[in-house]
Amino acid sequence: MWFGGCWCYRECWVPLIFILCLLWKGNICETVEGFHIETSRTVTVQTSLCVHIPCTFIISNSYTLTQNAKGIWYKDDSVVASKVGFLVPDNPRGRVFLTGDVQKGDCSLSINDAKWSDAGTYRFRIEDGILRFGYIGTKPYVTVTALTEKPDISPIKSLIAGEEVALTCTAPGRCAGTRPTITWEGSINTPAVEDIVLDNPDGNRIYMSNITFTPARKDHTSLLTCKVTYSSDRPRTTSTAISLNVEYPPSLNITIAGYNRSIESRAVTVKEGDSQTMHCAVNGNPQANITWMKGDTIVTSIVSRERLQIELKNISISDAATYRCSAWNQHGNTSRAVDIRVEYPPRRPEISVHGPNGVPLQYVGTDPIVHVPEGSPVSLSCVADSDPPASLQWVKSGQIVGPASPMGQKLQLNLYASDEGIYTCQANNKHGHSNRSITIIMTYKPKAPERYNSSCLRKANLIECVCLIQSFPTASIEWKVNGKSYLSNYTDGNISIVTVQLERVGNSTLTLRRNDGDQQSIQCIGSNANGFLNLQLLEASKENQHWAIMIGVICGVALILLLILAIVLMKHIQKKKPLLMDEHTGGPTVNDSDAIYSNTEITHRTSNGAGMARETQPDDLGPIPEEASTYMNYGEELHYVTIDFSRLKPRAVPAEEEMEYSEVKLK
Ligand SMILES: *[C@@H]1O[C@H](CO)[C@@H](O)[C@H](O)[C@H]1NC(C)=O
Ligand SMILES: *[C@@H]1O[C@H](CO)[C@@H](O)[C@H](O)[C@H]1NC(C)=O
Ligand SMILES: *[C@@H]1O[C@H](CO)[C@@H](O)[C@H](O)[C@H]1NC(C)=O
Ligand SMILES: *[C@@H]1O[C@H](CO)[C@@H](O)[C@H](O)[C@H]1NC(C)=O
Ligand SMILES: *[C@@H]1O[C@H](CO)[C@@H](O)[C@H](O)[C@H]1NC(C)=O
Ligand SMILES: *[C@@H]1O[C@H](CO)[C@@H](O)[C@H](O)[C@H]1NC(C)=O
Repeated sequence: MWFGGCWCYRECWVPLIFILCLLWKGNICETVEGFHIETSRTVTVQTSLCVHIPCTFIISNSYTLTQNAKGIWYKDDSVVASKVGFLVPDNPRGRVFLTGDVQKGDCSLSINDAKWSDAGTYRFRIEDGILRFGYIGTKPYVTVTALTEKPDISPIKSLIAGEEVALTCTAPGRCAGTRPTITWEGSINTPAVEDIVLDNPDGNRIYMSNITFTPARKDHTSLLTCKVTYSSDRPRTTSTAISLNVEYPPSLNITIAGYNRSIESRAVTVKEGDSQTMHCAVNGNPQANITWMKGDTIVTSIVSRERLQIELKNISISDAATYRCSAWNQHGNTSRAVDIRVEYPPRRPEISVHGPNGVPLQYVGTDPIVHVPEGSPVSLSCVADSDPPASLQWVKSGQIVGPASPMGQKLQLNLYASDEGIYTCQANNKHGHSNRSITIIMTYKPKAPERYNSSCLRKANLIECVCLIQSFPTASIEWKVNGKSYLSNYTDGNISIVTVQLERVGNSTLTLRRNDGDQQSIQCIGSNANGFLNLQLLEASKENQHWAIMIGVICGVALILLLILAIVLMKHIQKKKPLLMDEHTGGPTVNDSDAIYSNTEITHRTSNGAGMARETQPDDLGPIPEEASTYMNYGEELHYVTIDFSRLKPRAVPAEEEMEYSEVKLK
């Protein structure tokens, strides 16, 4: 039955003039004068959730509500909820119930565990004694939708590994609906869960669950789910999942290509000249700042990254160091280090030479030559810088000499200067080899070369002397003629000196204009740092003249004595054998070949075997040719003396210029 704008159920005996219902300010509809309801025009609820629809009404002030006033909600034409005054709802276990105090004009309605069938238009009616009025001004329209609302997890924030945290899951639906079941799902360990129900002053309820746990770094990015299940005849579930953001301090690993991933030993050996890349992999949340240091120096750094690498190119020994990768974020820091050892092939060996008494011998050059006095002990030492230590050995002419040094210690070789030659010290390790050579050259004082004699020849009106001197280092040759010195190259009217140096033998020729009657004394002197050799090639010595005179006198006296003896004998024999006297008248006969003096040469070979002498045979005597040979020798001893009197006439004093003499002068 409709009376104007008012809706009446069965009886409608409001004794008032019906007034047209007018739309008036939104959802409030003016009805019969004095009657008014205020509530939501449309309400939406998700299945399984609840909704609370606030509602107030007033009646004409011609009436006063009693405590028996009864509020009734209709949906379509059926009563869905009713209540008398402030008493409990008529259907307290129902899903739809009137919550307000009707006597005070509160017509609020709640719908729990909403079902699709709850959708529709709801109308309120008040009955109190003779007052019976149905409000049509506002009729809430309830829409039921699918359950899409999710639980809410809070707070949304970063978790810190090792620090306990509590998260709260709040179930959807903020009213005193049926209590849902709230569960948590995830991989976190040993969480504590607590369910909480908060009652709002408006009668609504909030269902929550707190979960308390201590996140670990492994929980980073793992899912945590809050699941809310509404149990009704058809349970429905809604859930929310969050990915945990667990912050933690960095950890890191250093890796080097070709080496065990975790570099247990922390020491890596690389070869000089190679290249190597060291990676530092960092795991931190938030991403860490990373730094590579070489010793105390920062080589490279980067902000907020997961890796940083450092590359060593063409590695040299200066790259050998401790390299440290450090990483830090606001939660902490970490670092690891690796020792880079650089190995290298042997450097060129260093050779030191010591002479007699351990005196170091200086030399220059990379493959030096060292001069050592003849017969001296020589010590060669070799060291070579390398890693790992090189094995060292000495080689001469392809032959290993002496022991080897496998562990790179200084290697010494003892020898004598007479073992001259090229000595090479070889150094080897697994990365390569190197060597250095040294040449040992023996030095000695001047000496006469083997098989060659120095001598003077008389030629017409010249005297030509050749002086041969062997030495190392080269000797300077000086001539002395009658005590006057001449250098090795000299020319004047009477003397010409030409000197040629051939290898180790100096050949100096002196040509002297011969003035008959001159007493010629000619000496050749060769000298170097080791000593000198003085060769007397020609000497007109007065001492020798005296010797000759004395020998002549002795011989003369002997002859006279012989004559006297002969005369005495002849007189004695004449008395007995006169015939014999005739034989004697021929006089004493002197052989042409009467050598007055001849000796056998004495040749001393010195330790170096350079001594020599020319043997003089009596047969060589006889008429002296114009070219007279002289003999020479040298050494520390007088070797021999030859005095040739072959031209000496019997009982005659030999001519001075025809006497030849040679000797070895002593130093
Ligand atoms: C539950 O968590 C909320 C917010 O995280 C907190 O305020 C409340 O005290 C917690 N309740 C319990 C019982 O732990
Ligand atoms: C370091 O190496 C270990 C063992 O291989 C591995 O478990 C860890 O994840 C690595 N850390 C980083 C930051 O790479
Ligand atoms: C490697 O370094 C050495 C010495 O530092 C240098 O002599 C050589 O040229 C370098 N090689 C390359 C390929 O750069
Ligand atoms: C990382 O480096 C940046 C730039 O220097 C700096 O601002 C930041 O504070 C650093 N982070 C930490 C955790 O030290
Ligand atoms: C690293 O952490 C230690 C303590 O954990 C602290 O003493 C040190 O100063 C930190 N170093 C850096 C560079 O932050
Ligand atoms: C010395 O080293 C050079 C260059 O490696 C090599 O050619 C030579 O044969 C070596 N000599 C010796 C004696 O080892």
